[in-house]
Amino acid sequence: MQLHLSPSMRSITISSNNGFVDLMKIKVAARHISYRTLFHTILILAFLLPFVFILTALVTLEGVNNCSSLDCLGRRFGPRLLGRDDSGRLVRDFYKILNQVNSEEIPSSLKLPDSFNQLVTDMKNNQYDAKTFGLILKGTMEKLEKEIREAKFAELMNKHFAASSIPKGIHCLSLRLTDEYSSNAHARKQLPPPELLPLLSDNSMYHYVLSTDNVLAASVVVASTVQSSLKPEKIVFHIITDKKTYAGMHSWFALNSVSPAIVEVKGVHQFDWLTRENIPVLEAIESHNGIRNYYHGNHVSGANLSATTPRTFASKLQARSPKYISLLNHIRIYLPELFPNLDKIVFLDDDVVIQHDLAPLWDIDLEGKVNGAVETCRGEDEWVMSKTFRNYFNFSHPLIAQYLNPDECAWAYGMNVFDLRAWRKANIRDTYHSWLKENLNANLTMWKLGTLPPALIAFKGHVHPIDPYWHLLGLGYQNKTNIESVKKAAVIHYNGQSKPWLPIGFDHLRPFWTKYVNYSNDFIRNCHILDS
Ligand SMILES: *[C@@H]1O[C@H](CO)[C@@H](O)[C@H](O)[C@H]1NC(C)=O
Ligand SMILES: *[C@@H]1O[C@H](CO)[C@@H](O)[C@H](O)[C@H]1NC(C)=O
Ligand SMILES: *[C@@H]1O[C@H](CO)[C@@H](O)[C@H](O)[C@H]1NC(C)=O
Ligand SMILES: *[C@@H]1O[C@H](CO)[C@@H](O)[C@H](O)[C@H]1NC(C)=O
Ligand SMILES: *[C@@H]1O[C@H](CO)[C@@H](O)[C@H](O)[C@H]1NC(C)=O
Repeated sequence: MQLHLSPSMRSITISSNNGFVDLMKIKVAARHISYRTLFHTILILAFLLPFVFILTALVTLEGVNNCSSLDCLGRRFGPRLLGRDDSGRLVRDFYKILNQVNSEEIPSSLKLPDSFNQLVTDMKNNQYDAKTFGLILKGTMEKLEKEIREAKFAELMNKHFAASSIPKGIHCLSLRLTDEYSSNAHARKQLPPPELLPLLSDNSMYHYVLSTDNVLAASVVVASTVQSSLKPEKIVFHIITDKKTYAGMHSWFALNSVSPAIVEVKGVHQFDWLTRENIPVLEAIESHNGIRNYYHGNHVSGANLSATTPRTFASKLQARSPKYISLLNHIRIYLPELFPNLDKIVFLDDDVVIQHDLAPLWDIDLEGKVNGAVETCRGEDEWVMSKTFRNYFNFSHPLIAQYLNPDECAWAYGMNVFDLRAWRKANIRDTYHSWLKENLNANLTMWKLGTLPPALIAFKGHVHPIDPYWHLLGLGYQNKTNIESVKKAAVIHYNGQSKPWLPIGFDHLRPFWTKYVNYSNDFIRNCHILDS
């Protein structure tokens, strides 16, 4: 027998493993356990928590008794259960007692039952006076509420760790491909082959940049782009990865050609420009006192759980995702320097799938702006598509209040057309660095969430809004994403925690991604990717 409170505290379910009817049966066998106890309890709960709907209990009772309200139950059982016609008085007494109990502390000596079952048993055995009973009920409710809150926070924590960890299959893939790099000459072959090298800086090609340490995700982005393209022979992919993933990433694309498209794989250590002297701010972020702890520490121990709601806790966890301090995530701000010969590129996140030809993006007139992006403040969906600067910045901070407009529309990273020529004439990187520094000095009180806020500031006045068709967001946030719009969009983006490669990904949204995983590939098969 269990008393279950829904996390919203708006409904109570009283049930046993085999359903409520069990109790009815017991009642028949042993008259005195019974409706009386049950009725008292429901009555008290109903007064103690006036906002609670005792639907399940009532509905279940209803089935048995053809009663449709507590009132009816009272009339039906009242006289019989409560003795004569004094149920009205009893109710008034309960009110009085409960009012009194409500303002009292629960004595620490009071033994609280662990379950509803035990409560019923205790009641039966101990003949509590009404006040003690009231206190016990109150204590029990508080205890349950606390347990539910804690369970909710634990669930959020688990989800956070599930979202920041790498599944076994993907780890295996990376290890085996790295191994292949050292043992198999084909896996080490030059990418692209020497005769195609000039194409890497040929501005008549469509250049895509992808920055990731996830080989499987990269394979899906590249495969979906190439397969959706009308002119795959004009595609050049520049994949940037970190040092530890470089060998595995290279092996994958060396062994799985996407010809006629071309792929280049580069480790961050291979860019001459990307030395620490050029990115002192990122260095500072990584070594800042307390910041490592902020992102990697114990997120529960420091938090005052009684003063926080599950929703704010979840957003705090999200902001603490270690990816926000990784260089791979900040690297997009250095694109003009990393690709000095290119004029225009499309930058993709690794959690996107391309479903239509993206070549028309190069024909969009950015009107002299640097960044062609989808705006995220004009959509119908309030979670993902109604973001203004207010959602990203702390407007109580004087600098933020002075320089930014809370109602300015935000835009999305993840699928951007960048005009690198225009970018080279603007001061975007310095602005980005200086605001990162300000925020660092302010102990991250100006904004919490990673790379987008400083970019929102740095690209101010340099953004050209493009049609939302090009970039549908939110597939990792919301289960209720509209499938029809998913089917139509040119690029779908699994931003949010529920990545399609994680067990917490949404099942009905995953096929749009797995469609581009090559399950006949030996490495994918041997690592049992996604067939848990
Ligand atoms: C947690 O917050 C509650 C409500 O704001 C407050 O009463 C309590 O003292 C706080 N506890 C700690 C340990 O700060
Ligand atoms: C930042 O936090 C540190 C310790 O946590 C504190 O000593 C310092 O005064 C804070 N700085 C600001 C600007 O609030
Ligand atoms: C917002 O800024 C104000 C002023 O600097 C600061 O007191 C407050 O703690 C900040 N809020 C957050 C959530 O960091
Ligand atoms: C998501 O929605 C689908 C269909 O709308 C449903 O079948 C599924 O159970 C939901 N999953 C979660 C985790 O809410
Ligand atoms: C999938 O992998 C197999 C084996 O490596 C390969 O022959 C096939 O061409 C790949 N399919 C696609 C669509 O890349």
